[in-house]
Amino acid sequence: MQDYAIEMVGITKTFPGVIANDKVTLQVRDREIHALLGENGAGKSTLMSILFGAYSADYGTISLHGKQVEIKNPNVATELGIGMVHQHFKLVQNYTVTENIVLGMEPRKRGGVLDLGSAEKRVQQLSEKYGLSVDPKELIENITVGQQQRVEILKTLYRNAKIIIFDEPTAVLTPQEIDELMEILRRLQQEGKTIILITHKLKEIKDVADRCTVLRRGKYIGTVEVGDVSEQDLAEMMVGRSVKFEIDKPEKKAGKVVLSIEHVTVKDPSGFQKVKDLSLEVKEGQIVGIAGVDGNGQGELLSALTGLSPVSSGKIFLDGEDITDLSIRSRIEKGMGYIPEDRHKYGLIGEFSISENLALKNYYKTPYSNQYGLLNYHKMSETADRLVKEFDVRCGEGSQTPAGSLSGGNQQKVIIAREISLSPKILVIAQPTRGLDVGAIEYIRKRIIDERGKGRAVLLVSFELDEIMNLCDRIATISKGSIVAVNNQNEVTEREIGMMMAGSRKDGGKQ
Ligand SMILES: Nc1ncnc2c1ncn2[C@@H]1O[C@H](COP(=O)(O)OP(=O)(O)O)[C@@H](O)[C@H]1O
Ligand SMILES: [Mg+2]
Repeated sequence: MQDYAIEMVGITKTFPGVIANDKVTLQVRDREIHALLGENGAGKSTLMSILFGAYSADYGTISLHGKQVEIKNPNVATELGIGMVHQHFKLVQNYTVTENIVLGMEPRKRGGVLDLGSAEKRVQQLSEKYGLSVDPKELIENITVGQQQRVEILKTLYRNAKIIIFDEPTAVLTPQEIDELMEILRRLQQEGKTIILITHKLKEIKDVADRCTVLRRGKYIGTVEVGDVSEQDLAEMMVGRSVKFEIDKPEKKAGKVVLSIEHVTVKDPSGFQKVKDLSLEVKEGQIVGIAGVDGNGQGELLSALTGLSPVSSGKIFLDGEDITDLSIRSRIEKGMGYIPEDRHKYGLIGEFSISENLALKNYYKTPYSNQYGLLNYHKMSETADRLVKEFDVRCGEGSQTPAGSLSGGNQQKVIIAREISLSPKILVIAQPTRGLDVGAIEYIRKRIIDERGKGRAVLLVSFELDEIMNLCDRIATISKGSIVAVNNQNEVTEREIGMMMAGSRKDGGKQ
């Protein structure tokens, strides 16, 4: 029998109405980089939270080097040498790097005085040993997201972790930062650490992992040597059928300008410029992408475009008409379609049926309302039944199903059906596939390309560079509220966009 560093056997964990882990097995060898792969909701974080002591399993056992252990809480996990770098960092913004690292286990001098000096020295040593460059004295609020992640890693090392779990660590990073993280993972492995890397990105697994365990809908699918399988094989294990990576995007000549953003500045309540003098055009039959790391002004730009918040200066034109000061409803009437990022907050009303949600933006017009304002539910259902079919929305009770009971992918299809069916001149789309499974992603991307084929102008904001590269004709890279450059898709590489996302300008980038 092999002596595994970690062996989880028959792990089962239920939440109300869902079996998050269903008799899952995980066997991790000492000093390997073990990837944990699965679609959204497959049960990866749950399994790792059990290993880290944040949840307790209903059934199953955990052994470390052949010895069964009870991990009742994260403190026990820490004592056993298990550390976790969470998806959402747990750092105190106005504390220094060192203060965050020692939090909860501050070194004391005799007499109980806090000894930050010795802690700083140890942090410095650790950061040099593992190649985790970060200034121990700097405040968290002054360092980049990539550096904050290093602080989280240092935190586990400071506690002498032997096993380090990373929960989707690359989701928040630029391509360059991802490369650096991959280097750090290799370094940690060389220094004797055992790594579990949760991800749904196949490229990363092929890049650094030795073996990979796949979960699907809470179930254990298998464990493979990464060297023996292709990305395609991994994808098929993950989704349970064959998948297509590339989408067909026929040539399309762009037509006249539909959306024109001219020198728009948006300030936050404290007067800080979130969007700075930004100009951009989108033409008919063209998909323009805004590439950038989350939090660089994308949200504020979308709010200004859709009328959710005012601009401080600048103008927005739709089909030649100034819409800068129009209400949300007038913008919709003038031909602006919007597929928002937060489906729950802005996109759908969960208690309403699919049919009602589909009519949210035109229920007050004929044929859905008569001159007395009475709603014609029959007409609404008729349209809804057609759209449910056309957009392949999977639902229990047809168009009368409450929207809140649909899966994320199907909710997104309802919103897309509604926005597209209104035949907007410009379709503004934010993060259309975030958190969706591969099947829904394929479908939605294809629909967006179809709309372009019909001559629709599309503005797409996405933090997934893959998505931008796959869908867009032109790519505007945003950094700190400004467009760094606008390039044709075929004239720029992912790496170059990554550089620009981090704020440096690509030579030859055209505005
Ligand atoms: N605290 C919780 N309460 C209820 N349901 C949960 C909780 N955490 C996770 N789940 C559910 O368990 C399933 C697995 O979730 P998770 O482990 O987060 O998946 P993954 O990390 O693979 O995306 C999902 O259906 C999710 O909605
Ligand atoms: Mg997760």
